[in-house]
Amino acid sequence: MPLLGVNIDHVATIRQARRGDEPDPVRAAHEAEMGGADIITVHLREDRRHINDGDVERLAAMLGVRLNLEMAATEEMTEIALRLRALGRGPHECALVPEGRDEITTEGGLDVARNAAAIGRVVARLSEAGIRCSAFIDADPAQIDAAKRAGFAMCEVHTGPYARAFAAAGGDAADAGLTRAIEQVADAGRRIRAAGMRFNAGHGLNYQNVRAVASLVGIEELHIGHSIVSRAVYTGLREAVVQMKAAMAGV
Ligand code: PXP
Repeated sequence: MPLLGVNIDHVATIRQARRGDEPDPVRAAHEAEMGGADIITVHLREDRRHINDGDVERLAAMLGVRLNLEMAATEEMTEIALRLRALGRGPHECALVPEGRDEITTEGGLDVARNAAAIGRVVARLSEAGIRCSAFIDADPAQIDAAKRAGFAMCEVHTGPYARAFAAAGGDAADAGLTRAIEQVADAGRRIRAAGMRFNAGHGLNYQNVRAVASLVGIEELHIGHSIVSRAVYTGLREAVVQMKAAMAGV
């Protein structure tokens, strides 16, 4: 079964609704860890709309599991990741994502092919510091090949289109659109692995649709946020993570 990276950005979003200090994403990370999270993921956005620098520093200092920092491929973010790494702390992984000020969440994959040189320089600096770099990309052969050339160790395939196909088909595995969508993710996974990179996936995954992705051959990490934090409202975060791991395993 793949590892589960739990994205806790939404916990910080609730905190920011009152500009206060609760709920604390670091406490949430601890709860997720107790529920079996293998990785904690946070996205430090340029506009600091949810997670802030202090959160990343505290997470890097206290996490018992790996820290995956989602970030735009900018100088500012690269410096932050390198500074924390130089202190002997995380992040262990950096997922490079596109970032738009007006988007509600990350909307599409990173265009590695078009920005190869600049992205390659960021990947080289992070990799030299021992940080494993992941490209969040659409299930597109050209982007996979570009990610390999740019030096990425991992690709996280954008599962948003699969999640939409699942919803449109009502989860009917015989639906042609849904079959096509999961095949695209599987094809991407084969190409990523053939290129010698780790095959990860994420975005839009939930308790209903996760099983098919978690079962793909060679998949190593899933990164999931919204559905887990949503369920946590009813069950608590620790239990929501336990239930997601069960859904991934199909039990
Ligand atoms: N992976 C990446 C790269 C993301 O940007 C996000 C959203 O922050 C996720 C995974 C998690 O997506 P979701 O919140 O839909 O589970």
